[in-house]
Amino acid sequence: MKKIIINGANGYVASNFINQLLGQECEIIALVRGNKKLTANERMNQVLSHLNDEDFIGNSKLKVVNYSLNDENFGIPEDEISDIFRGELDYYHFAASLKYDFKSKDEIFRTNIDGVKNSLSIYNKYAGDKSRFFFISTAYSCGKYNGEFREQFHDNEDISAFRNYYEQSKRFAENVIREFMEKNKIDAHIIRLSQVVGNSETGITKTDYGIFDFAKRMHSISTRYPNKEVRVKVDPKATQNLIPINEVIKYLMFTVQTSDAPQIVNLTAKQSTQNTLILDGLSTLIPLKLVPVPELKKEEMSSIERLVSVGMSFTGSYIDTDLRWETNNLDALVPNDGNNNEDKAILKMLEYFIGTLDHSKITKKVSIAS
Ligand SMILES: NC(=O)c1ccc[n+]([C@@H]2O[C@H](COP(=O)([O-])OP(=O)(O)OC[C@H]3O[C@@H](n4cnc5c(N)ncnc54)[C@H](OP(=O)(O)O)[C@@H]3O)[C@@H](O)[C@H]2O)c1
Repeated sequence: MKKIIINGANGYVASNFINQLLGQECEIIALVRGNKKLTANERMNQVLSHLNDEDFIGNSKLKVVNYSLNDENFGIPEDEISDIFRGELDYYHFAASLKYDFKSKDEIFRTNIDGVKNSLSIYNKYAGDKSRFFFISTAYSCGKYNGEFREQFHDNEDISAFRNYYEQSKRFAENVIREFMEKNKIDAHIIRLSQVVGNSETGITKTDYGIFDFAKRMHSISTRYPNKEVRVKVDPKATQNLIPINEVIKYLMFTVQTSDAPQIVNLTAKQSTQNTLILDGLSTLIPLKLVPVPELKKEEMSSIERLVSVGMSFTGSYIDTDLRWETNNLDALVPNDGNNNEDKAILKMLEYFIGTLDHSKITKKVSIAS
């Protein structure tokens, strides 16, 4: 039976991957860090319950192990770690700090670069020869690159070539893997994701990252200040590349099944989504009319517009981007059938997501009243 080890296993993408793997013939080892309130096992079960509408009671294929990403042997006793990594396996490194603020640089580098180095050295020490190492990177490791970002390694660059340390840390981590691979001849693969959203078929969206973080903040402002027209400092024609979680999982499942995965893949949506679609879509779902004004200056903003602008601290760096990625490796596996319904799918996800926020508001009110 195939053995698959996944770190950062309770995160959004990894937990969806595990949820899918549970239906396959394989042994899954999920590396999760416990916290003060919950054990690693409880955290993993909680997230799988959430994904399965509270209907998950454990699965014998899944073993959850408490670990510490930066510690020697992940802080796991020697006999246990050598047992975990014994034989031929696929290792997926998902763990990462997704922070983007400049003051979190140390944490971002410690997690996203030192964490990868530690994973590599443990993998190299214990995993069998025919094993494979998959690193989950980001398409935004392209930084401020202007052309079509190729599916190959790119040299390290100064922070001025990136929007934040998160992007830079992922570029550095990829090059850590490149060097390690050349030196130790391991079979390693890089999977670069763009912004991962909900399910394009069902609309179900269980992430509040990126545009959904923005949607959540706008929803909150709209409940406090309903029926206002607010200007947002956004270029309406600029785009966001949004990759549905089901597409990501489809690709990850492909990597499990094939012995011929590409070394680097830009796992991005074929068609990017214009900001105007997101703003217009949101304006129909919440009582707030969002009007894009690219040149909006801070001193011209009303107090609500300033609140909106604070709510864009992350999305703010991506309001005027129109990035392009090479997708030859991806296209060879998943040919473009010309049926690009991305925009429709994004609107469906926004509708679902706002619905969950409205619902949680209603249930909160009911539980306070009762
Ligand atoms: N979501 C996206 O749109 C997106 C886009 C591009 C690339 N990616 C990449 O995809 C991967 C998964 O992202 P995600 O959205 O699923 O993120 P997520 O939900 O935030 O999950 C991140 C995971 O990393 C773990 N982690 C963070 N810091 C850690 C540390 N110091 N030690 C051990 N574990 C640590 C988290 O554990 P805790 O819960 O304990 O913090 C969590 O399990 C990441 O590598 C990310 O860079 C994601």
